[in-house]
Amino acid sequence: MSKEVQTIGVLTSGGDAPGMNAAIRAVVREGIARGKTVKGICKGYTGLLAEEIIDMNTRSVSNILQRGGTILQTARCPEFLTEEGQKRAAEICRKHGIDGVVVIGGDGSFRGAQKLAAQGINTIGIPGTIDLDIACTDYTIGFDTAVNTAMEAIDKIRDTASSHQRCSIIEVMGRHAGYIALWCGLANGAEQILIPEKYGYDEQKIIDDIIANRKRGKKHYIIVNAESVGDTLAMAKRFEEATGMETRATILGYMQRGGSPTCKDRVYALTMGAMAVDLLCAGRSNRLVAYKNGSFVDFDIDEALAMTKDISDYQFNVGVNMTV
Ligand code: ADP
Ligand code: F6P
Repeated sequence: MSKEVQTIGVLTSGGDAPGMNAAIRAVVREGIARGKTVKGICKGYTGLLAEEIIDMNTRSVSNILQRGGTILQTARCPEFLTEEGQKRAAEICRKHGIDGVVVIGGDGSFRGAQKLAAQGINTIGIPGTIDLDIACTDYTIGFDTAVNTAMEAIDKIRDTASSHQRCSIIEVMGRHAGYIALWCGLANGAEQILIPEKYGYDEQKIIDDIIANRKRGKKHYIIVNAESVGDTLAMAKRFEEATGMETRATILGYMQRGGSPTCKDRVYALTMGAMAVDLLCAGRSNRLVAYKNGSFVDFDIDEALAMTKDISDYQFNVGVNMTV
């Protein structure tokens, strides 16, 4: 039987992402406006098990909308993978009067939310990850900021690569997915975009292309490499040896996860936070807020986690004729 919650706990889990603070702000303020008590659970499931639970009021989320990271902090929690840990977490929620939890994170965090729901705590997930790798949604909090940060960095690298007539390989994040690499590769006009979903691991083809590109008189050769494709430093060495073109590697790293969220990340995160509260007020549980085909919607978490998504050949090939 569905039951409207009275006390909402909110936590961030897994890798942080710019815009998570906007989502926290929305949950707190929307929750309070709807007459609920809202508590912040620090450091994801780790803080839940350690009872790091704080009362939130409207002032607790002042001045955070524009800040990167997460004021609640985040963590990965091996203990929560066990049924014993999940049972204990649900007991702790009950002890603190928390009957609904909003989990802001990625796929792993939603598996945790699913387990907490099975223990009788109403849970709602909000997709927060720079990787965009959650199948049921076309948008995840932080992706827009991360790709803009990476794009600006790659623009700068392109300036110097061009001046020195170098090949530059830039490694971007994304865990097992290539969305960040694809979007930056297109936005930066990269000569090659290497993503796990499409890359055929044919280095000779790239080497031939670098040489042909040089002969055509192009000054630089930009390769955007998704982190899961392979060792970027070793790749740069191999390409330099095979082509004779000076080649440099840059690993953008954690700068992609930080910084002030873009307008899109703020607005979408605020909307998703408010929707999560709506769902809890409607007595829903085990749901995931998503943005699909132009609308904000929600899915059953079990169904959402069983979905898959892929990068279309059309999207991948969009830039191919534009870099000659
Ligand atoms: P993300 O949410 O970004 O995908 P992780 O995969 O690291 O990040 O998951 C974050 C946390 O969610 C884990 O440290 C763990 O506490 C919890 N979690 C992940 N998978 C499960 C699972 N199968 N069952 C219960 N909890 C899980
Ligand atoms: O999921 C976000 C992400 O930044 C991935 O792109 C990356 O592979 C991973 O987290 C890095 O995780 P950690 O913070 O544990 O090094």
